[in-house]
Amino acid sequence: MTATETDVAALEARFDAVVAAEQRIEPRDWMPDAYRATLVRQIAQHAHSEIIGMQPEGNWLTRAPSLRRKATLLAKAQDEAGHGLYLYAAAETLGVDRAELTEKLVDGRQKYSSIFNYPTLTFADVGVIGWLVDGAAICNQVPLCRCSYGPYARAMVRVCKEESFHQRQGYELLMTMMRGTTAQRRMVQDAVDRWWWPSLMMFGPPDDDSPNTARSMGWRIKRHTNDELRQRFVDMTVPQAEHLGVTLPDPALAWNAERGSWDFGEPDWSELKQVIKGQGPCNAQRVERRRAAHEDGAWVREAALAYAQKQAGQRQAEQKRSAQ
Ligand SMILES: [Fe+2]
Ligand SMILES: [Fe+2]
Repeated sequence: MTATETDVAALEARFDAVVAAEQRIEPRDWMPDAYRATLVRQIAQHAHSEIIGMQPEGNWLTRAPSLRRKATLLAKAQDEAGHGLYLYAAAETLGVDRAELTEKLVDGRQKYSSIFNYPTLTFADVGVIGWLVDGAAICNQVPLCRCSYGPYARAMVRVCKEESFHQRQGYELLMTMMRGTTAQRRMVQDAVDRWWWPSLMMFGPPDDDSPNTARSMGWRIKRHTNDELRQRFVDMTVPQAEHLGVTLPDPALAWNAERGSWDFGEPDWSELKQVIKGQGPCNAQRVERRRAAHEDGAWVREAALAYAQKQAGQRQAEQKRSAQ
């Protein structure tokens, strides 16, 4: 072994030991290139999802049925913007630039969650997104609070607290609609029928078609497989659906006493593949809207940069004066 090979072996051993001891890897620590690349991809995809995820619900902001519903929805959309910011900041600790990540998103070189490529057709969709989509996000994200990469794990703690507020506001909205008219109840059921399967797809492809899972679990970025998380979500959601009084659109759904879990049908994986490939109902619209918003915001970024430069210049001038 050469001297550098010995050094790398020592660094690798330290990295493995930190991960095995359930401690955190921090930005200044040495980490394998593939670990860094995996985190950049995952955190960027997560950040993009928070930002793109504002669009389907934003669609209903101007048409919310009451001031209270509007204020709640607005607060939720703002939370999602905040989640995007924490996550872009976490990605930047790995040495990537946020502007570059945004460019990759609008060029289609980086992905965001498949769920946000479905349209929001009625106000009941706002409730169902809160209940099912934020609910699925919670299942995915709670274990990330224990992720081996410190900045990502810490960002997730606050994100998860806010996600549970989102889930409750969605569920409360649906409960209110279910106490309303027959038309409102139908509207809720229709939204559940449309969002149920895409929500199950949020956990990604089945385990035997998810080649990177084992490595991510070894690094303790991921704690559970896609199928484990999907099962957890189904088990959590079925009693909530019963309480709400809606039917989940899966004839195969049945309690399995032996497993102590709900059996459920297979999502249409070819649909997930299509949506990931960019052929979902709203992919083009979502990315185009993001691109337009980014371009419209150019003057804000330029103004902030000019202000920062001016402040730095003034500080320098002051330092020079006080040194004289
Ligand atoms: Fe979020
Ligand atoms: Fe959320």
